Order: sequence, then C-alpha cells, then structure tokens
Amino acid sequence: MAFSTPAKCFNEQSMNQERWTEVDRYITERVLPADPALEAALAASEAAGLPAIQVSPNMGKLLHLLARSIGARTILEIGTLGGYSTIWLARAVAPGGRVVTLELNSVFADVARSNLARAGQAERVEVRLGPALKTLPLLAAETSGPFDLIFIDADKESTAEYFRWALKLSRLGSLIVVDNVVREGTLIDEDRRDAHIQGIRDFYALVAAEPRVSMTAIQTVGVKGYDGFAVALVVAEAEGQNNASRMPK
Ligand code: SAH
Ligand code: DHB
Ligand code: MG
Repeated sequence: MAFSTPAKCFNEQSMNQERWTEVDRYITERVLPADPALEAALAASEAAGLPAIQVSPNMGKLLHLLARSIGARTILEIGTLGGYSTIWLARAVAPGGRVVTLELNSVFADVARSNLARAGQAERVEVRLGPALKTLPLLAAETSGPFDLIFIDADKESTAEYFRWALKLSRLGSLIVVDNVVREGTLIDEDRRDAHIQGIRDFYALVAAEPRVSMTAIQTVGVKGYDGFAVALVVAEAEGQNNASRMPK
C-alpha cells in the first residue's frame, strides 16, 4: 500500500525541536498544574548528576492516566532513574496498591527513594536495586505478580527480554507500556546496528510473533525529541491458550 508523504502540510520550519518543545509546553501549561513534588524530584535528580532522560511531564501524565483508567493496583517499572515516572505511576494506584521499580544504579536508586519519600509515595513503592535480568526472576519466584501495568524503560538492548518477563508477570488484561521504541526513526535505518536500536527491533519481532498481546506504537515529538512508546494489552493468559475473542490482534 502506498502512502503519500505529507510534504504539503509540513515544511522544515514547522517540524523542528524548538516548535515541538513549545507545543509540548503549551499543552503542559494547560493540563498539568504546578507540581512541587515532581519539580523537586527533577531538581534533586539534576543536582545529584543524574542524566535528564526521564519521561516528559505529558508522558508522565499519560502513564498516570493509563494506570488509573485500568484501575491498576499493582505496577511494575523496569528502569527507575530518579523516580520521576515512578511518582506519576504511584499516584495512580488505589489505596492498598503498590509499585515495584527496578534500578541498576545504587546512586540513582537512593535519589529515587528520597524523591518518592518527598512526594509522599515511599510506602507504596519498593525500589529494588540490581540488574533487572537478575531481579525479575526473583520477583517471579516470589509470585509478586501478576502486575496490572508494567512500564519498561531501562537499557534498550534488553527490551525484548524485559518484555518476555513482563508477559510472565502479567495476567489477562494487563497493560505493558514500553518507552523509546522509535528513537528518531533509526529503527528503520539498516546501517544502524547499535545494540540499543537492535534491541528495539528484537522487541518488535518478538511482539509480531506473540499471540498473547495486542499492541500498537505511537510516534511522539516534544521536549524529549522524536521518539515513541508502545502499548500492549495482554489478551490471552498462558502459552498456547486459545483466545476465543474475535478481536483483531
Ligand atoms: N523511568 C524513568 C527513566 C529511566 S532511564 C523515568 O522516566 O523517570 C533508564 C534507567 O534504567 C536508568 O536509571 C538506568 O540506570 C536503568 N538501567 C539501565 N540498565 C539497567 C538494568 N540492567 N537493570 C535495571 N535498570 C537498568
Ligand atoms: C534516553 C531517553 C530515555 O527515555 C531513556 O529511557 C533512555 C535514554 C536518551 O535520550 O538517551
Ligand atoms: Mg525512556
């Protein structure tokens, strides 16, 4: 099928970072009230020298709304950084709910714990230190799951592997959200063989062959540049389980 390029709608000037940032701000100013706890988390993360690679405010709000809209009570996050996205997710869970977030770097984990405490979310969030491919099997062995929502946002090389674990730790109806699945469109550049881009391709290949999930991915522009996120719904529980639904994959 051929799609025409929307060249007449967009020129170079209307498609640049400055404009994406301004429009992101325009939306943020209107739908996100000032939020001292989140702002303090960002300031503390910056002061501690953490890289500013957390989700944008609008993306954080989207994670929060997705979690609320499915009534999530248990959430798993892979990749904590300073806990910015964690705060958004933790605020979405009902009283009695909980969030487990996995982080490799002990300095980042400490900053996250302090940010979560300041935001009043320490009690419902457990920050687990260690490489996620080590902590995920432990989590599965503890039968900590299933989780209602899983947010994958750690090292991109392992995204496919994290998705496999997310499936193991989910149930029918769980939502799996994956960040950074477009990376300026580099996933379609054949000369790009870097491990993190290959990791994203491996993830799409896995999902393409996985009957248990129904997924889409959205390309995004904004303060964080041109990237995208994927939303996958778990539509069947166990391997080989017949999905009686007539809904399309
Ligand atoms: N979700 C955060 C951003 C996460 S950035 C937010 O939006 O606020 C990615 C994080 O994954 C970094 O903190 C990095 O240290 C962590 N990470 C990288 N490799 C990891 C691994 N193997 N296991 C767990 N965390 C890892
Ligand atoms: C980057 C952005 C992310 O959202 C992330 O999870 C990791 C890295 C980046 O821009 O480098
Ligand atoms: Mg990310």
